[in-house]
Amino acid sequence: MSTASPDCSAFRSMHSAISVKNISKYYGALQALDDVSLTIEPGEFFGLLGPNGAGKTTLISILAGLVKADKGHAAILGSDVQSAFREARRMLGVVPQELVFDPFFTVRETLRFQSGYFGIRHNDAWIDEIMANLDLTSKADSNMRALSGGMKRRVLVAQALVHRPPVIILDEPTAGVDVELRQSLWQFISRLNQDGHTIVLTTHYLEEAEALCQRIAMLKQGKIVALDTTANLLTRYGSNKKDGDGKTDLEEVFVNIMSGDIR
Ligand SMILES: Nc1ncnc2c1ncn2[C@@H]1O[C@H](COP(=O)(O)OP(=O)(O)O)[C@@H](O)[C@H]1O
Ligand SMILES: [Mg+2]
Repeated sequence: MSTASPDCSAFRSMHSAISVKNISKYYGALQALDDVSLTIEPGEFFGLLGPNGAGKTTLISILAGLVKADKGHAAILGSDVQSAFREARRMLGVVPQELVFDPFFTVRETLRFQSGYFGIRHNDAWIDEIMANLDLTSKADSNMRALSGGMKRRVLVAQALVHRPPVIILDEPTAGVDVELRQSLWQFISRLNQDGHTIVLTTHYLEEAEALCQRIAMLKQGKIVALDTTANLLTRYGSNKKDGDGKTDLEEVFVNIMSGDIR
């Protein structure tokens, strides 16, 4: 399916997909983000990694306009997430970490409601296409509360795509999801990326990040402690210990970076 909206190409050459400049965020005395700067270009498949509590979801919530940064600026395709909230939000699809739904809505109603939120009417053809691609068609008229966790996860992905956003952020979309769904989800997201969508992925499955992401930022206690191409991270921080396929793996890199204060 061709999901790249005209917005994708129109903004492509002019702006970064995501621009984060000197963002800090406090929750009371706790500093969740500490002077984070990051630029992601259109078309990238970008990984945002870090242990629990590192600040990944906080950063994503700031980009989605759900949480206000105490310092710094962030923009989606050139639109500031605060001063141009509506434009920024329209460019962005977020698959949230938490499963939150109205249990009384069916899958189709949930997706229609989300379309309405973006002021899009008569979106059923697109909704049908998304459901088909996520194997949700047979559940279209089921209530959300009747779905398994994996199916709910698919609806979250579908919800993020309803307004055809050029930039898509997935916050641990495969947490607690079976292997089969994980694989079909990755195939689908890879295809969206090939169609021109910018993808930002947060995951604890580092082999997935290694296989999918071109560049990776690692967050630790609210700070970026590594930011490079996946290939460079593997050469710089791996032990060069060969495993089966002759590669050091990202898990080892992650442990090395998180345990030391190397940059
Ligand atoms: N609404 C909130 N109120 C207070 N503290 C929060 C809130 N949201 C997150 N935190 C804290 O901020 C830090 C970063 O959390 P989060 O962004 O969820 O990290 P991650 O997604 O990387 O696991 C954690 O210490 C977390 O407990
Ligand atoms: Mg999180």
